[in-house]
Amino acid sequence: YLEHTYHIRIRSSQSMTAFMESQLAELKAKMERSSRALSEFERELNVINPEEKTSILSARLLQLNSEFTSAQADRVRKEAAYGSVRSGSLEAAAGSDQAQDLRTLLARRNQARERFAELKAHYGANHPEYRKAAAQLAEVEALLGEARRKIAERVEIEYREAVNREQMLRQAVNQTKAEFDRLNARSFEYQTLKREADSDKALYEELVRKIREAGINASFQSSNIRIADPARPSLEPVSPNLALNLTLAVLLATVFGIGVAVVSDALDTSVRDPEQLRRMTNAEVIGSLPEVKGWRGRPSSVRASEGALVATGSEETAHSVTLYEEAIRTLRNSVLLTDFDRTIRSILVTSPTPSEGKSTAAAHLAVAHALQNHKTLLIDADLRRPSVHRSFNISGAAGLSDVLVGERGWRELLSRPEGLPNLAILPAGPPSRRASDLIGRGIASLLDEATRDYDWVIVDAPPLLGFAEPLQLATVVDGVLVVARAGHTDRKAVASVINTLRRLRANVIGIVLNEVHHRLGGGYYYYSYRRYGKYYHSPKAA
Ligand SMILES: Nc1ncnc2c1ncn2[C@@H]1O[C@H](COP(=O)(O)OP(=O)(O)OP(=O)(O)O)[C@@H](O)[C@H]1O
Ligand SMILES: [Mg+2]
Repeated sequence: YLEHTYHIRIRSSQSMTAFMESQLAELKAKMERSSRALSEFERELNVINPEEKTSILSARLLQLNSEFTSAQADRVRKEAAYGSVRSGSLEAAAGSDQAQDLRTLLARRNQARERFAELKAHYGANHPEYRKAAAQLAEVEALLGEARRKIAERVEIEYREAVNREQMLRQAVNQTKAEFDRLNARSFEYQTLKREADSDKALYEELVRKIREAGINASFQSSNIRIADPARPSLEPVSPNLALNLTLAVLLATVFGIGVAVVSDALDTSVRDPEQLRRMTNAEVIGSLPEVKGWRGRPSSVRASEGALVATGSEETAHSVTLYEEAIRTLRNSVLLTDFDRTIRSILVTSPTPSEGKSTAAAHLAVAHALQNHKTLLIDADLRRPSVHRSFNISGAAGLSDVLVGERGWRELLSRPEGLPNLAILPAGPPSRRASDLIGRGIASLLDEATRDYDWVIVDAPPLLGFAEPLQLATVVDGVLVVARAGHTDRKAVASVINTLRRLRANVIGIVLNEVHHRLGGGYYYYSYRRYGKYYHSPKAA
């Protein structure tokens, strides 16, 4: 690894150096180009540093300008003097060098004039004194004229000089200004060139430094990796950790299993646990009927011969029918046991929803009671979907509906199925809306009479939810059995049905769980039948 890193470093620094070197050559050429351009420019301008030259020029220009201004003023002054001298006035010459001489001459002339005027008053023109004074005056006048001429000449010369000087200065100013402007204009160019040359040079120097550095670094860098401690294989493998994996698997599986169980239990709202039902409805689960394979979906049929039911179908069906029969007998006994003083003579069999096994349970309960030599009457009060007559294979042409509308007496419509001498059946008869409406009161009087003749009157009713009749029937019978299909009927439906029945003061004997199979409702209910079933059904054992 160390070597590898070292080689990588060396290679990368080599490629870096190579790249930089190629850049270097280019840069060098560029730098040379730019500095050559700069020196050419300097030569062309004939200056070492145009910036310095510019400042010198500007100082000179300033000085020339002020000189020019003063020369201009001087020239104006002298021009004025010259102008006035030319027009004959000597006042302008008062400030000049000849002024003193002029003033002396003027004083002398005034003296001479006074003296001449004085002598003129005393003497005649031919008097020597007069003539002397006149000659003196004429001489002074001549001198004065001469002085005046000289002054005028002088003033003119001075004026011409001033004009000359002004002109020369103007020329000098203009020249300097032109040079200054030219230099200024080129100065930008010069600065650009100089900047470029400087930056090229700096870049080149930087690159040279970098290349040197890279060379030095390449030889040093390999030293920052050291082997602190050579690696040794562990005594035990780190993975797979069998103990940890097993523990995790057990824990996760348990948690997952519990989760699934809790969720599925929370999602399943059907009746399954008798204990739970008791808690929810405050009603006892009085019986559990096992599931009979092969029954569901087919109309049930009940046949009896020689004092016992005939089971049809396969062996498995026959076996579970025996278990069902046994459960029905237990149910019958339970009802009898809860009724010590024998007040329950009429029993209504109903359920919260359709198809929960009411008719089947009612028929078998009636048969079971009749087989114990008790006079039993089975009334089919499900006028909408009658089924009892079909189960017993009897005619359903006339029945309860005819009795309710008052056309026939109930006794003449009874059927007695074969092999069951103690069982009488009142079928539902033709469906009739009027009969349904009359069912509450009509059946009350029927039950009154029937309970006198029969030990038990079992009434098969329609489902409670959605029909009004079963509620009316529930108030006129002595007890109500509520059938609920295990794992199917909703717990809340059962609870609400039982609450309604209680509100109507119906006597709820208990709940019958139908179609219990050993997965549901706890082993106790199912296996107990199986045991007893075997016991009763083995003739050898009997
Ligand atoms: N314990 C059971 N095991 C298997 N199937 C059953 C069981 N009890 C009833 N059945 C079947 O369920 C179906 C409905 O039964 P049944 O007619 O007795 O129900 P019901 O509550 O009277 O229905 P309805 O509301 O139509 O009057 C029938 O096919 C019947 O054979
Ligand atoms: Mg029915």
